[in-house]
Amino acid sequence: TTEQFIDSLLTTMSIDTKIGQTNLRGTSSRAKTLSEELKEDVRQGNVGALLNVMNVEFVDELQRIAVEESPNKIPLIFGRDIIHGFKTIFPIPLGLAASWDTATAKASSRVAAIESSSVGIRWTFAPMLDIARDSRWGRIAESPGEDPYLASVLGKAYVQGFQGDSLNDPTSIAACAKHYIGYGAAIGGRDYNTTIISEPILRNVYLPPFKAALDAGAATVMTAFNEINGIPATGNEYLLKDVLRDELKFDGFVVSDWDSVVEMITHGFAKDEKQAAELAANAGMDMEMTSKAYEHHLKELIKEGKITEHELDEFVKNILRIKLRLGLFKTPYRDKNRDTNFYAKEHLAEAKEAAIKSAVLLKNKNILPLSTSTKVALIGPLADAPLDQLGTWIFDGEKEHTITPLDAFKTADINFKYIPALTHSRDKSKKQFKKVINDVKGADVIVFVAGEEAILSGEAHSRANIDLPGAQEDLIKELAKTGKPIVLVIMAGRPITITNIIDDVDTVLMSWHPGTMGGEALQEIIFGIREPEGRLPVSWPKAAGQLPYFYNHKNTGRPASKENYTAMDDIPVGAWQSSLGNKSHYLDVGYTPHFPFGFGLGYTDFTYDNLQISKDTIGFNEDLVMKVSIKNTGKRAGKEIVQLYLQDIVGSITRPIRELKGFQHVSLKAGETKELTFKISSEQLEFTNHKIIRAAEEGDFNIWIGPNAASGLKKSFYLKKK
Ligand code: IFM
Repeated sequence: TTEQFIDSLLTTMSIDTKIGQTNLRGTSSRAKTLSEELKEDVRQGNVGALLNVMNVEFVDELQRIAVEESPNKIPLIFGRDIIHGFKTIFPIPLGLAASWDTATAKASSRVAAIESSSVGIRWTFAPMLDIARDSRWGRIAESPGEDPYLASVLGKAYVQGFQGDSLNDPTSIAACAKHYIGYGAAIGGRDYNTTIISEPILRNVYLPPFKAALDAGAATVMTAFNEINGIPATGNEYLLKDVLRDELKFDGFVVSDWDSVVEMITHGFAKDEKQAAELAANAGMDMEMTSKAYEHHLKELIKEGKITEHELDEFVKNILRIKLRLGLFKTPYRDKNRDTNFYAKEHLAEAKEAAIKSAVLLKNKNILPLSTSTKVALIGPLADAPLDQLGTWIFDGEKEHTITPLDAFKTADINFKYIPALTHSRDKSKKQFKKVINDVKGADVIVFVAGEEAILSGEAHSRANIDLPGAQEDLIKELAKTGKPIVLVIMAGRPITITNIIDDVDTVLMSWHPGTMGGEALQEIIFGIREPEGRLPVSWPKAAGQLPYFYNHKNTGRPASKENYTAMDDIPVGAWQSSLGNKSHYLDVGYTPHFPFGFGLGYTDFTYDNLQISKDTIGFNEDLVMKVSIKNTGKRAGKEIVQLYLQDIVGSITRPIRELKGFQHVSLKAGETKELTFKISSEQLEFTNHKIIRAAEEGDFNIWIGPNAASGLKKSFYLKKK
């Protein structure tokens, strides 16, 4: 059996080669030559895995040295960040989350696995499962958004796509659930920042997506850069041993983040490299990425009895188990005869479909879809920005293969003129404005593709203001003066605050960074061949000052409402300062987001009707069945994402005002009505309280079924103990 094989292999290993297995060596993907030093390290058995070796000949040669010349002949794993595609780039993960579609998520990671495994990569550092509730955080682009339920179903789908039916298949790559844990809770949205996460919040919000990914078989887990309540994730014994191993029964291996072992020194948690190694090892961190604390100190620490050889053996076993599951002992090499399948026709089709499913229509004053005879002026810094369109983490995507909106408009049978203006998203120059205003004269409609360059989101790229950078708002305001309708398309790595310009534009279409096929997807959406199908996976703020904002917040003792909200402008000058009547809101931007979580329009309208529940009272271990009728009241066929929310009104700890518990996609012809059935089990009513007891509690619940987190038909029921 696997474990017997591992145990017997372990008996042949020295402490040095065991430590070698825990070493994930970083390399530069641009290296022109294969370094002799690296070859020698592999030959000595000092390396367990490699990061970013992108020359296939180097991959083959290093693997040959490992399996033929190293002391224990253990194959290497080659890893890389294949985040939303390898060559064929899909929308950024936040965009994919907007599809609310597990099939789309799975298709994206399957395509990524097929393409990247062809060059010998068998391990990706994805999916990123960090709940993100602050759009200032640059890595929100890479996240599944703000909701634990949506993140969980997507996390599972990504793992299934990367790992295929069996890890053993040569087109499968090992997934890495990251960043364990709480990385998205960085205070103020500043990357790497401190997090403070209570035990119930950890378990009710941040942990569920990891649990879902591990239940789906995710082979590896990456520790986060951040500290949680004072303890860095990489040295956190409670999280790595008690929670991950004992509770979640994880049997793959844990890898640190880049240098996160030695960064525990900077955190002020370890006094030096040796203590960092000791803390990480005692916490149960198996493989060290790039830094060399284990390589330098584990042997000595074992000698000193600060960690046991048994512990080191456990790390090695975890690592070997995944190498075995990947089939690397039998088939260490990539199949040189296999087609790489880069940009295969069906991959491009999936990427285009994903971009359509991810696009969220936020406003539409009956402008979209345009007819092909409409005279369109295509403007904006992202209208023809092939690399920026791909988004963050696209090491291998190529601009030559990217279809921008301009490319797609050129090949479509439409009437348009491209008017270059603003060379990139941060361009502040207003020099061309006059010419642009003159050039749009002949147009019926302006399509302005705005947004952020890819570099403005992603790791270490947080922003304090999240409005359109550069002179984009100014140009939109100038264009609005022409009286022509403006379709604002946004390509960005996060929600962009558009409060300043929302009244200047007729339509707002969020396409995130839509990937290789983004241009074609947008062209089809704009001209009505398809409708935008996405719904927001994050609340869209009115102002960065509202952040963090998330729909599933608590009620507080003084919740704001329409009735009690006083806007700043309504306060008489000289009014006496009083808290009475004031509630939990901002005087200037209120208490609601610009667009709620789950929101998105299509090209038709739906009504929700006749919500029925099977019982007013359910017992534990009983299901509540709900039925609701959805009607397409518009003139064209359309798709809706019907969302089920729940509120546990009173709890042993306070509960969120709403929580997503399910959703269904429905397609309806014009005029058609369908009845949908939802089920909720008492298990779905469970939460973890302050005593770390996970249970559903007797009491009253509200449910809503509707199109987003801020509306829906409502019913109530009671959960009764026996
Ligand atoms: O996978 C990434 C991680 O998300 C951030 N630090 C570097 C890793 C490897 O590139």
